[in-house]
Amino acid sequence: MKSDIGISEKNSQAVAVILNQLLADEHVLFIKTRNYHWNIESSNFMEMHKFYEAQYTELADAIDDVAERVRKIGHYAEGRLKDYLKLASLEEEEYTNDQQKQIKNLLDDHETLIRSIRKSIDVTGDDHKDAGTADFLTGLLKEHEKWAWMLRAYLK
Ligand SMILES: [Fe+2]
Repeated sequence: MKSDIGISEKNSQAVAVILNQLLADEHVLFIKTRNYHWNIESSNFMEMHKFYEAQYTELADAIDDVAERVRKIGHYAEGRLKDYLKLASLEEEEYTNDQQKQIKNLLDDHETLIRSIRKSIDVTGDDHKDAGTADFLTGLLKEHEKWAWMLRAYLK
């Protein structure tokens, strides 16, 4: 059944595209974080193993929230890996078990998403008149800022 929530079809469609692209990027970052959780080798292995687990567990919640936001505005969430790889802007690197490289790769991705979400807050709220999504993205922005801060603290 069609939603009647005061957002035009054109605007909700445009917001759904933005959210599905974000959903794809969050999946790439989730898998990258799990890869590092499994393959980290360092003198503080257990700390990093648990640190990555904490981050991907929170990312999994964020992924669910992004997908459900797409449904709340009346559209379908992308749900196939091949679609995520087509839509994602984040890249997967070669395998590395070096802690500094892993942390730098994750930090770069979080900061890329922070810049992109910051723009999307204005686009969804101002251009597409979707205050709910702009508010949701503001919360997600703050989560990425927290994750980025924690990663950054490991780099000199
Ligand atoms: Fe595990």
